[in-house]
Amino acid sequence: MCGIVGYVGGASSSLDAKDVVVEGLARLEYRGYDSAGLALVLEGSGDGPGLHVDKKAGKLANLRAILDEAPPPTTRTGIGHTRWATHGAPTDANAHPHLGAHGRLALVHNGIIENYAVLREALEAEGHEMASETDTEIAAHLLERRLDAGDDLTTAMQQVCSQLEGAFTLVAVDSQDPDRVVAARRNSPLVVGLGEGENFLGSDVAAFIEHTREALELAQDQVVTLHPDRVEVTGFDGSPAEGTRYHVDWDLSAAQKDGYDWFMRKEIFEQPRALADSLLGRRGLDGKLQLDEMRLTDGELREIDRIVIIGCGTANYAGLVAKYAIEHWTRIPCEVELAHEFRYRDPILTRNTLVVAISQSGETADTLMAIRHAHLQRAKVLAICNTNGSTIPRESDAVIYTHAGPEIGVASTKGFLTQLMACYVLGLYLAQVRGTKFGDEIADVMAELEQMPRHVQTMLDKAEDVYKLAHAHEDSSTVLFLGRHAGFPVALEGALKLKELAYLHAEGFAAGELKHGPIALIDDGLPVFCVMPPRGRDQLHDKMLSAVQEIRARGARTLVLVEDGDEGVARYADEVVYLPKVPTLLQPLVAVVPLQLFACELATVLGHDVDQPRNLAKSVTVE
Ligand code: F6R
Repeated sequence: MCGIVGYVGGASSSLDAKDVVVEGLARLEYRGYDSAGLALVLEGSGDGPGLHVDKKAGKLANLRAILDEAPPPTTRTGIGHTRWATHGAPTDANAHPHLGAHGRLALVHNGIIENYAVLREALEAEGHEMASETDTEIAAHLLERRLDAGDDLTTAMQQVCSQLEGAFTLVAVDSQDPDRVVAARRNSPLVVGLGEGENFLGSDVAAFIEHTREALELAQDQVVTLHPDRVEVTGFDGSPAEGTRYHVDWDLSAAQKDGYDWFMRKEIFEQPRALADSLLGRRGLDGKLQLDEMRLTDGELREIDRIVIIGCGTANYAGLVAKYAIEHWTRIPCEVELAHEFRYRDPILTRNTLVVAISQSGETADTLMAIRHAHLQRAKVLAICNTNGSTIPRESDAVIYTHAGPEIGVASTKGFLTQLMACYVLGLYLAQVRGTKFGDEIADVMAELEQMPRHVQTMLDKAEDVYKLAHAHEDSSTVLFLGRHAGFPVALEGALKLKELAYLHAEGFAAGELKHGPIALIDDGLPVFCVMPPRGRDQLHDKMLSAVQEIRARGARTLVLVEDGDEGVARYADEVVYLPKVPTLLQPLVAVVPLQLFACELATVLGHDVDQPRNLAKSVTVE
């Protein structure tokens, strides 16, 4: 939530800070789009030393319009922010950057300063006047007060951060020190981009990927100072520290739409490649599964007697699918829980509990807090994550990276499919280590998994048919989704996609639950997506077919996802979408694709912004 950019260039740099900041914000806008702003450090010529600050409520386009109308002078140093409002409505005044009392310092912030009320009261008692309702502004005043007392910005940041509670990434500039940008992080994301004669900051690497692929990961409670020619890291207490340097393995093209109308649509179509990448290198020369990032020993994994999978939203649904596969293959009891509910119910965890935290971004605050709680209870934590160097994998005992490439559309698509893939691989790996499946059985499932990119491509080839279905439902105000077994989380995910993108009333149900209440919702012409399990599980298949018949008899319009060759179902369906024949446990990988396409297209037809749905932001970094 909230996107942050920082830049400092040297005499040799040909870049204008405004361009770096605005382009960076454009790539981070998916993190929040309530308002946007920037501060540039002016250097003596023209307007004289000082800050040039522009900020505006609404999307980045509004800020761009101001900058086009009255272009600021070229500068070498700047910071910028795109906001997802927490304290204070999305107005011009509450937009970042915020300034110190005399306008010497500008600050942008992601997160929540929890003790801001006390600090604000104390500042106001000293005569400080606040221009906004934000928690951020108090930090700007505190920092500037220290600058006025003679500290440099780095020292001021160290001192002020020690006073703050909560989660924050702060990035500040001092108009009297143009060669320095200073940032700090606690429980909120921040990455440094290392250039030559210039350096960058971003909430994630997308902010600067067009300028450098060399990055520096920061740990918690660190302050980083950027000069054009060097980067210095310290703790909040001023002690010297080091970041971890890494090379970003994707480039600018991954952060561009490539001719698609939406990032989401592009990412849906990237799924075959993403799935293939998520499987790369998982098998050794002996055919056995190997997980490079698995830092738990075989001995530790053999002792696991319970698995708890945690995540939020789509990641939670990936966990629900995983439960079916992991329990079946390993016979380890497996629970799935929403990360934000987990720690508040005081869960019973032991050193033999494996907590699997699923998070595309690796920064979701609810999931992060849950894994910290799990660690306190001595449980082992394994992260399934898409973002290298993010906080959740860094704080976990082991990690499986999903290798999907950057996911920019706010609604998760390739993130979900690759999370499923990672869960399957984890289940098979545990089965291998614990001997609950024979080697050839594991190899058979792996061979099936290796076919999934092809099967998903088959579904994408049917996109036009699904789009027609979406157009036909342009006037629907409610859509229901039914599934059983591993198809139940698919129904939930299909409904979530529609809610968040098309703003429709959409609900997913376990088909068996229908008669216990939800069937009362069925009305003439109500569209209901039904995910039919493959015929291999006859009982499951037949029970689901009964549910389809029952709702059709009551007037529902049935949109049935069914495997190729299952012709018997067609006569109970108003519309059929055929799925490739795959094992029941793996069917979610193909069944969810038409539901993603449906939601994306319907939202497009309805005129919504698919990549930036209202009220949402990618990467929910506040609890
Ligand atoms: C829905 C969606 C969200 C995320 C959830 C968790 O399309 O994207 O429900 O899945 O906010 O995010 P991560 O996986 O980054 O922890």
